[in-house]
Amino acid sequence: MNRREFARLLAIGGAAPFVSPTVTWARPADLPPTPSSPDEKFWTAVRDQFVMPKDLAMFNAANLCPSSAPVLETMYRLTKDMDQDPSFDNRAKLGDGREQTRKLLAEFLRVTPEDIIITRNTSESNNLVSTGIELKPGDEVLLTADNHPSNHTAWQEKAKRYGFIVKDVPVPNPHPGFEHYVDAFRKMITPQTKVISFTHLTSTVGDLFPAKEICRLARERGILTLVDGAQTFGLMDVDLSDMQPDFYSGSAHKWPCGPKENGVLYINKSAQSKIWASIFSAYPGRVGVSRTFEGFGQRDEPAMMAFGEALTFQTKIGRALIEKRSRELTQALVAGLKKIDGVKIWTSPDPSRSVAVLSFQPGNLDVRKLSLALYQKDRIGCATRGGQDRPGIRLSPHFYNTMADVDRTVAAIKKYMASGV
Ligand SMILES: Cc1ncc(COP(=O)(O)O)c(C=O)c1O
Repeated sequence: MNRREFARLLAIGGAAPFVSPTVTWARPADLPPTPSSPDEKFWTAVRDQFVMPKDLAMFNAANLCPSSAPVLETMYRLTKDMDQDPSFDNRAKLGDGREQTRKLLAEFLRVTPEDIIITRNTSESNNLVSTGIELKPGDEVLLTADNHPSNHTAWQEKAKRYGFIVKDVPVPNPHPGFEHYVDAFRKMITPQTKVISFTHLTSTVGDLFPAKEICRLARERGILTLVDGAQTFGLMDVDLSDMQPDFYSGSAHKWPCGPKENGVLYINKSAQSKIWASIFSAYPGRVGVSRTFEGFGQRDEPAMMAFGEALTFQTKIGRALIEKRSRELTQALVAGLKKIDGVKIWTSPDPSRSVAVLSFQPGNLDVRKLSLALYQKDRIGCATRGGQDRPGIRLSPHFYNTMADVDRTVAAIKKYMASGV
């Protein structure tokens, strides 16, 4: 389905007409077509599609992204329509819309709709895998030490119950390069290894892992792979037909800028007979693996359709371009931070080892105080990491940021490094 057809479906609502879809979020103009060489003016027009106040520079995409006005409008319009007439007859079209989102997800990830489950978030997707694969005492699961709890604690807890063994591949800093990790996994594989589960791009310091190479290594040895894509879905121009994982997970509310509590789980056809569904209820999806794995009961279908609108929005701008832009913003931040005395950057500046999650330690400054000052005094949103393990500030820029946001952020950090907080 192309964008126009999807827009038409959203607009006409299938069998029954929508009732007065009136709400719009004010913005200077609609999204312009992407020029052949997008400049700052174009990216400012992209920024204008978001409802955040102009003075707020959000650098926290790795945690939660704002939805664009078209996504909010879609969600509001469809929710209103549903609540004005919650009959089965009126809601029938929402089931069609949910399947259209599945198609858009498949196009986005370059796979087929039959392999896509629309979940509630990455946490749920990861847990559907760790619960659904049958593992017995003595089997081994290889993880990276820097996995999110939904892909780390989850395996450890299930290991206690089922008796399998979990091992961590260490994650040194600075990033030691792709070959190091392929080698590290190769050395830790044993005849008992059944699953390799790792994070494509870590949320801690933004280390990029060689997903395609690790998946190939595992496949050659009959080992299943789960790639946690929470930090790459909607940021990188991910091609699962090339990466070939068995499972890939992601959330709508992060880099895709979609609604909250929507997510994706891709299950490779070759792995579909090797995993059990965990939740059985009414209202599954209509095609492929969603018929058995997506019966989660009543869903928020307007939000699922707004998820499709978010994917369409990014596709319209250009997914490769969004990745390029986020990388450029990150490189500009790195260049600025490098010049500030006392700043220690944890993230590799090498574009083959990182993308757009940037962590640094601001000398001896208290990171919570710094983050609060940045937010309250400078209107800059970021994340903090406490403790002893690579502590500091995390900046994760996305396509709604401008170079002016970057300059402002570097200047503010420089000021606090000089004067304290
Ligand atoms: C790598 C990684 N995996 C999983 C998650 C969980 O995402 P969610 O809270 O959307 O389920 C996160 C959240 O930050 C993450 O960074």
